[in-house]
Formats: sequence, structure tokens, C-alpha cells
Amino acid sequence: MSMLFDEGLLLEDCTTAETIVRLRRLTLNDAPAIAAALSDVAVARNLTQVPHPYGLDDAEAWLKSVAGRRDMLAAGVSVDGVLAGVVAIDASGVTPELGYWLAAPFHGRGVGRLAVRAFVDFVFATTDVATIAAGHMLDNPASGRLLARLGFQPTGETEVCSKARGATVRIATSALARAAWVDGQPAIETPRLSLRMPTRADVAEIASAAEAPFGLATAPFAELALTADAQALVLRAAREMRPTNLSLILRLKDERTVVGGVGWRSVEPGVVELGFWLGAAHRGRGLMVEAARATLEAAFLGGGAKAARANCRASDWASRQVLIRCGFQWEGSTLVRPASGGSLAADRFRLDRDTFLSFREWAASDVRAFGG
Ligand SMILES: CC(C)(COP(=O)(O)OP(=O)(O)OC[C@H]1O[C@@H](n2cnc3c(N)ncnc32)[C@H](O)[C@@H]1OP(=O)(O)O)[C@@H](O)C(=O)NCCC(=O)NCCS
Repeated sequence: MSMLFDEGLLLEDCTTAETIVRLRRLTLNDAPAIAAALSDVAVARNLTQVPHPYGLDDAEAWLKSVAGRRDMLAAGVSVDGVLAGVVAIDASGVTPELGYWLAAPFHGRGVGRLAVRAFVDFVFATTDVATIAAGHMLDNPASGRLLARLGFQPTGETEVCSKARGATVRIATSALARAAWVDGQPAIETPRLSLRMPTRADVAEIASAAEAPFGLATAPFAELALTADAQALVLRAAREMRPTNLSLILRLKDERTVVGGVGWRSVEPGVVELGFWLGAAHRGRGLMVEAARATLEAAFLGGGAKAARANCRASDWASRQVLIRCGFQWEGSTLVRPASGGSLAADRFRLDRDTFLSFREWAASDVRAFGG
């Protein structure tokens, strides 16, 4: 049976490593841009299903068919607000299959790599897909290069019919298995904790760890913890791409249980806001200091941040201690406005990269794959 994707996965945009390139939901209004791009034979000849000539009716029919399918997830690639292309996964067959194209003016500018990477990351993080298959025509080296850079491994060669060429073409097939994808994701090992990006498989564990979350939490998480919506946390983590944003869950190495979360989001160029939460049952053992120090190290050394900020509820003495033990300094008081309404008195803290590095007297953590 084919896989079905949750509705609403793309209700909000997905960011990529470059702020101007985003993945977004497609609407019928995209038909003219799609028709214009795919009527270019230079694009269509690299695809199997797109006929030539290709017109507005074809684009509209395709958009309608996609909107009605739950075994397919398709995203528009937006560059500076302009629809530049499409990336999609079709799960109607045995192995879900990736497809993508960009309009000719956007070729060769790195947009394909950013968009397809973000889409593949999003699919693995938010769905149960085990393996993603892909194929590129032998005379389309840009696509082959793009897949190889994302870790796709060759699986063979086959022949397909290209509608636009009206001929049979040789295709190199490849696949990316979930385990190989996981290996390429950001990871931090501290003495007692493994920090990884959350995926759909972690939802139940996150929910139970967050049941009584007020052990420790920076201000933005205090509100998240109230809603305790682990599914939303995973989705949000997947939408906000590294290195500008990163969300990790903390797992105890010996028991393998999820105990909390830590991460950062970019608030202004070069400045990240650190956020964390720890399940109440796991307080008092210095776990969050260990995780926060390692995460700051990743943000400063791998993520390119020059400074970090954090907001902590005024009444939360324990979270304040975590920040101070990482080298943060109190900057002033502020009000944070949770989405649930009202406002919360909070303290603002700041830590510069150089201060952190000179303050650091603990052993460096094992941090990997933090590049864009
Ligand atoms: C394939 C496609 C999505 C690639 O996107 P892109 O933004 O043009 O590619 P990028 O700029 O991200 O480059 C991807 C890689 O291909 C390389 N590349 C780009 N053009 C190339 C060319 N003509 N020959 C060889 N390599 C090329 C780039 O150097 C880069 O490799 P690197 O990461 O090692 O530097 C885009 O060109 C496209 O839409 N083509 C038409 C439709 C299509 O082919 N779809 C895919 C069907 S499988």
C-alpha cells in the first residue's frame, strides 16, 4: 500500500539554508509560472512525464491532481517570492520517488541543491518514509551531481520514455535510505547525552518527556510546554533549516530516553536565541548545562553565530543558573508574549562568542555535520 502524507505538512513555508529560498505550498495561482517554465524544452527534456509543448491547461490539470492526492507531497520552490520550480515526492509506488525542476533562469545558482536538500530533510523528519528513490538522465550531470551531494547512492540504470523528447532515455537510478540520511544530520555527543534533530518517530517520547516540562525552560519554550504539542515541535524543527535555526532533542545515552530539547533560532544576522527545556524528572543533574554548552559550541563554531541571547522567565531561577554557567550575562528585563496570550516577565541574557570561548573550561563536545 502506498504511503499517505499528513494534510497540512506544508501549511507553513519551509526555510532553507539561504533565507531567500523557501519551500511553500502550491496553489492554482502558480499555474502560469509552471506553464512558462515547463514549456521550455531545455527543462522538459530532463523530465519523463512533461510533454512538449506544455501549456496553462497542463499546469492547471497537474496542480488539481496533486491537490487531490495524499500519496504525493509537492512544494513550490520560491526564490525571493518568485516561483522558481517544484520539488515533489510521489509515494504511489513501492519506494517513494523524488522529482524536481527549476525554471531555466534559476539553473546553476545553487538553488536546486538548497531546495532539494531542504525537501529531503523535511520528508525524512516529518514522515515515515524509509527510503527515497531518484533517477536522472545520463545526459543531465547537474541533477546527478545534486543527488550525489545529498548522499544518494547509485542503484542501477534503466530506460524510460521522455514525453518531451518523444524518445527513450537512459536513466541512472539512486536512493537515499533513512539511516544514511540520519548519519548526515547534525549530531552532538556530550558525556551523558546524545543530541539529535527530532523526527516524527520521536513524537510520543517528546510528548511524554514534556508532560511535566517545568523543570527548566527558556521563555519561548514555557509556552510550548503548556501546549505540549510534540508533533508541532517536530514540524517546526523540520521547517526551520540549519544553520540559521536548529532544534535538537536530548536523549540520555545509557537509558536512551528523551529528556528535553535545546536549540537556537536566528533573531538577527549573526545572533541566535538559545532555547531549551528539560523534563521535570531530569532536573538537578546538570544535564541542561551540559547540553546548552555543547549547543552553544555548535552555534558559535559550526553555525557561525557571533552572539547568543536567551530569555528566561523572571521566576525561573534554575534556567537562569544554566545560562550563567554557560557564561551568559544579564542584560535587562523584558516582556515576552506567548501565542497563548498575555505577557510574561522575563530576563534577557547575552553571550558573545569570544566570551564563551575564553570562558570555556570544559571539554569540547563531539559536534558533527553543522554545515548548511
Ligand atoms: C537539475 C536542477 C534541479 C539542478 O538545480 P541547479 O540549481 O541548477 O543546480 P545547482 O546550481 O544546485 O548545482 C548542483 C550541482 O550540479 C553542478 N552543475 C550545475 N550545472 C552543471 C552542468 N551543466 N554540468 C555539470 N554539473 C553541473 C553544480 O556545480 C553543482 O555541483 P556541486 O554542488 O558539486 O558544485 C536544475 O538544473 C533543473 O531544474 N534542470 C532541469 C530539470 C531537471 O533536470 N530536473 C531534474 C530531473 S532528474
